[in-house]
Amino acid sequence: MGAALGSPAQVERQARREAHAENGSRTVPGTRVVFGPGATAALPELVRELVAAGRATMPVLLVFGATSASRPWRRRVTRELDGLRPDVVEHARRYPTEESVGALVDAGRACGAGIVVAVGGGSVLDAAKIARARLAAERAEGAPALVTVPTTPGTGAEVTPFATVWDFERSKKESVASLEVRPTAAVVDPELTATMDRREYGSSALDALVQGVEAAWSTRSTAESIALGLTAAGLVREAYEAAVQEPENLGACTAISLAGLHSGRAIAISQTTACHAISYPLTLMTGLRHGHACSLPLGQVLAYNARAGDCMDARGPEHVRGVVRRILRALGVCEPREVEAVLERFRRLAGLEEWSEVEFDAASVAAQAATYGRLSNNPRRLSRERLQTLLEDRRTR
Ligand SMILES: [Fe+2]
Repeated sequence: MGAALGSPAQVERQARREAHAENGSRTVPGTRVVFGPGATAALPELVRELVAAGRATMPVLLVFGATSASRPWRRRVTRELDGLRPDVVEHARRYPTEESVGALVDAGRACGAGIVVAVGGGSVLDAAKIARARLAAERAEGAPALVTVPTTPGTGAEVTPFATVWDFERSKKESVASLEVRPTAAVVDPELTATMDRREYGSSALDALVQGVEAAWSTRSTAESIALGLTAAGLVREAYEAAVQEPENLGACTAISLAGLHSGRAIAISQTTACHAISYPLTLMTGLRHGHACSLPLGQVLAYNARAGDCMDARGPEHVRGVVRRILRALGVCEPREVEAVLERFRRLAGLEEWSEVEFDAASVAAQAATYGRLSNNPRRLSRERLQTLLEDRRTR
């Protein structure tokens, strides 16, 4: 990986330094977002604007997922971009791997892509984000622009400066964080999520909820990430049932897509914490969908964080208690123990398995989860031993 690498916090600091050096501003120019039902129609104009502004060149490399051939949004996006004559490539794997990302880099190099438009779920966007960063590292100047078009509502991958590569043989995933990974622009059209499988949709919406909660209580949180995270969690709480049960309910689906966007912006600032650290080995070992896997330990982790002791946040236990109270309000409950019932209901509505029904080895998941740095963003210390106890307790609560 030739692009500048570092933690998301280091990436953010680098962005601020560069912005300050360039124009004296301390505000980082983030991903430009076009949001709303029908936003897909703005795609060709957006590409032309980026080219006219010198932020991109032609040609366009259009990236879809391998299972996108039958999706109505693929025809729609293809039609919208037809006049720009894009080169088209499919990302071959369900999750990005070194090999699948390499194939996208080869395609971008072969056509001399000056702008990459990635259309799909979080994995397709992540693969294109890393491929774009690698293409940028190969060129002395003229890094290609990247426009993300999410077709799932909850990952926030359309705006984050990091992406994940999975190594299933080594049972490991690696986070890649760099300014070149952050998309130039995003087109977020809730209409594109209408044909999703309901289990996929529910899992993706749960990802937005968990990311919102974790961004709020992370030891790296700021007033901005807390506000964005709580808003995301509250939007999912309000709209989840209608969005999962009524795919044609544009109001509910728009709220969930907005929650995903807010959650992405929130974790771009403060990263995720224990639930995401637990989810990665769960997904690697059991094949559970990402958002579903993140949601399973949330009730227990929230109850754990709500109790005083072992505070890891420099702002102290009172700050953490205050944030947990605000999270409970956003989720529409009074007590930490009520959160589990909300999550169980949400999972049931989408036909997703319950925590007690998932078979895995708690010691192995805890050992793997403890290797992820984001575990130390949790506001209360969570050792490998405590993590294992928490995972074993899921059947006895
Ligand atoms: Fe996530």
